[in-house]
Amino acid sequence: MTKNLSLLDNSQIEECLTSNSLRIAVVGIGRIGLPTALCFADSGFQTIGIDINNELVSMINSGDYPLKDEPEFDKIFENVTQQRKLVATTDISKGVSECDVILLSLPTPMDDQNIPDYTALLSVGKSLNEVLSNGQTVIVESTVEPGFIENELLRTIEGPNRALKVGTDFHLAVCPETANPGEIMKDFKKLPRLVGSIDGRISSVVSQIYVHVFGVELILMPNCKTANAVKLTTNVFRDVNIAFVNELALLFEKLGIDIYTVIDAAKRKYNFQPHFPGPGVGGPCLPVNSYQYLNSSKKIDTGFLKIVKHARKINENMPNHVVNLLSDALSESNTPLNNSTIAILGVSYKPNVHDIQIAPSEEIIKILTEKNTKIKIFDPYFKSQVFDLAVEKSISDALSGSDAAILITGHKEFQNLDLKKFSKTMKNPILVDCTGLVNPLDAKENGFIFRGIGRGDI
Ligand SMILES: NC(=O)c1ccc[n+]([C@@H]2O[C@H](COP(=O)([O-])OP(=O)(O)OC[C@H]3O[C@@H](n4cnc5c(N)ncnc54)[C@H](O)[C@@H]3O)[C@@H](O)[C@H]2O)c1
Repeated sequence: MTKNLSLLDNSQIEECLTSNSLRIAVVGIGRIGLPTALCFADSGFQTIGIDINNELVSMINSGDYPLKDEPEFDKIFENVTQQRKLVATTDISKGVSECDVILLSLPTPMDDQNIPDYTALLSVGKSLNEVLSNGQTVIVESTVEPGFIENELLRTIEGPNRALKVGTDFHLAVCPETANPGEIMKDFKKLPRLVGSIDGRISSVVSQIYVHVFGVELILMPNCKTANAVKLTTNVFRDVNIAFVNELALLFEKLGIDIYTVIDAAKRKYNFQPHFPGPGVGGPCLPVNSYQYLNSSKKIDTGFLKIVKHARKINENMPNHVVNLLSDALSESNTPLNNSTIAILGVSYKPNVHDIQIAPSEEIIKILTEKNTKIKIFDPYFKSQVFDLAVEKSISDALSGSDAAILITGHKEFQNLDLKKFSKTMKNPILVDCTGLVNPLDAKENGFIFRGIGRGDI
């Protein structure tokens, strides 16, 4: 029999936590769900990871850690899978029916029209309708737009004619995840979490559970939609500010001003928060979250959030700007872009992770391919193929015989590049830097024709 935690007082909940008598299900054990499941299992709770990906489930059950680029979890993974504290399954009905607390860490991407796609959450919501009964607690960790929980997911779990009733047959809360890939453990231990729910009592139960497992501050929100709005606001703030510095970068290139010098000095003022220009904004969060806000606002009036719309346009145009910088540099050495060989250094959407979701590199490669260039890719986080293209074994292999290189992702492996060596390896020593890692003067002293986003001082 599963537990209805809303019927327990704080000391009874505490007893469940200290005796590890809660059983936990995490539905969706990907980038965020697996580390979450590992933390619950590591705290001593019997945890079931549920996923539709057969291969992932087999890997986990055979002790093969799937998130190699996510530090600090590998040892925990080894311990909890050996002790069978964490097991994985594809069978949602069986997994969920045995658990008191069900966390949903399902993907919330967007379609090719930039409309948020909540299919995974809604399909799991339907399954929950068939298996929940005894007042289990469902916690949505996925990022969704304000109102989605109240208007869509709640109705789906309740089912036609409200066959199940929230507050009685199940409880529904949100605790949006805010961790950063590559630093998830650090963020789990440090970042405060937001909690909102449909019925108030369950917020404090969820808080007690999360404080026990993660030891972080919990911020109680008045409802689910406010908690989800906070999560979107923090990410869309970044998308908009990156668009601002990207626009400044374009201007500074014309004005002969170096954007990194400006940001470095500006950040010495107490109320300036530095953001940096780049080849676009990718990943599963920032671009999607802007479109989630836009989707939410257009249901009221399409006139809302013009600044977010504009920011998206600017950030989405950056790959074109990168190609323009490349063409400009190539024309300085009288090399046509057409039929040239371009080395792409870094494809991940951000440094130090193996992740190409909505990566600007994909759009840059697409534009270059349409312009008949030959692409050579090197990214230390991708070993054989990416975007259906071969990956070179080393940076030297990528640069050898190339007409130009574009440094797209600021992986730690690209810090302190041996510019002297590489200028001799390349057919044409031409470098476009999207990361700010290369000092323009060093590049020039080592014989490069150099262009960098926002580098207006050369
Ligand atoms: N990755 C991040 O940087 C990050 C950070 C904070 C929040 N989030 C949010 O967390 C949520 C999960 O993101 P993620 O990056 O972990 O996604 P992910 O794609 O890495 O993992 C999602 C997992 O869910 C599984 N899945 C898909 N449909 C399913 C279904 N119907 N039933 C069971 N499993 C199913 C997939 O197979 C996958 O393993 C999203 O809402 C995302 O916006 C992500």
